[in-house]
Amino acid sequence: MKYLPISLLILALATATAFAYDPSPLQDICVATNDPNSGVFVNGKFCKDPKQASADDFLFMGLRNPGNTANPLGSKVTQAFVDQFPGLNTLGISMARLDFAPGGLNPPHTHPRGTEVLVVVEGMLLVGFVTSNQLNNTLFTKVLYKGDVFVFPIGLIHFQLNTGNTNALAFAGLSSQNPGVITIANAVFGAKLPISTDVLTKAFQVDKKEVDYLQAQFWYDNN
Ligand SMILES: *[C@@H]1O[C@H](CO)[C@@H](O)[C@H](O)[C@H]1NC(C)=O
Repeated sequence: MKYLPISLLILALATATAFAYDPSPLQDICVATNDPNSGVFVNGKFCKDPKQASADDFLFMGLRNPGNTANPLGSKVTQAFVDQFPGLNTLGISMARLDFAPGGLNPPHTHPRGTEVLVVVEGMLLVGFVTSNQLNNTLFTKVLYKGDVFVFPIGLIHFQLNTGNTNALAFAGLSSQNPGVITIANAVFGAKLPISTDVLTKAFQVDKKEVDYLQAQFWYDNN
């Protein structure tokens, strides 16, 4: 009996170890280097000396003003990610402001490192996400009105379209300091260097002519 608490403690520690895992990546790529002078980030950002931190580090005023929607998509996403808002470093959270002209689109994209929860503050939005191949690429879609909240699960392709006659405004919270954005069309047809036509003709079941056309477009990044 005397040894029972110790056994339980050992079991608890073993269980804790079993649940331990590597920290999630906080950036797209982080190739190991043996030369510390050529290294830049260690899965995120360096930290300021805490004694040098102030309230200003935890304030971001960049979402005060509407984003400029006079662009080919009619939408603008203003990010409050760790790059813009250093106080978010290590906190696993970020925000964005989304402005839409009538008809404005935030085109199909994914956040590889973050779930997104979005609230409509003005106007209306048609939103949706598509599940992975395992769940048969099923579309989950809704029309949102002022005050409505929708969640886009981590990694899934999603979009927002202003189907109203007025401007629309939404704010989003994301579950990473650096959720990342991959705009599907930009990544696939606007890649630098261009992806081989042989890959894209087969993948999209179109002719070289269509692929050439798509690759020749300017893929505006509304972020
Ligand atoms: C996906 O499609 C397959 C084949 O039609 C079906 O058997 C399966 O139940 C579907 N799964 C879901 C989650 O809808």
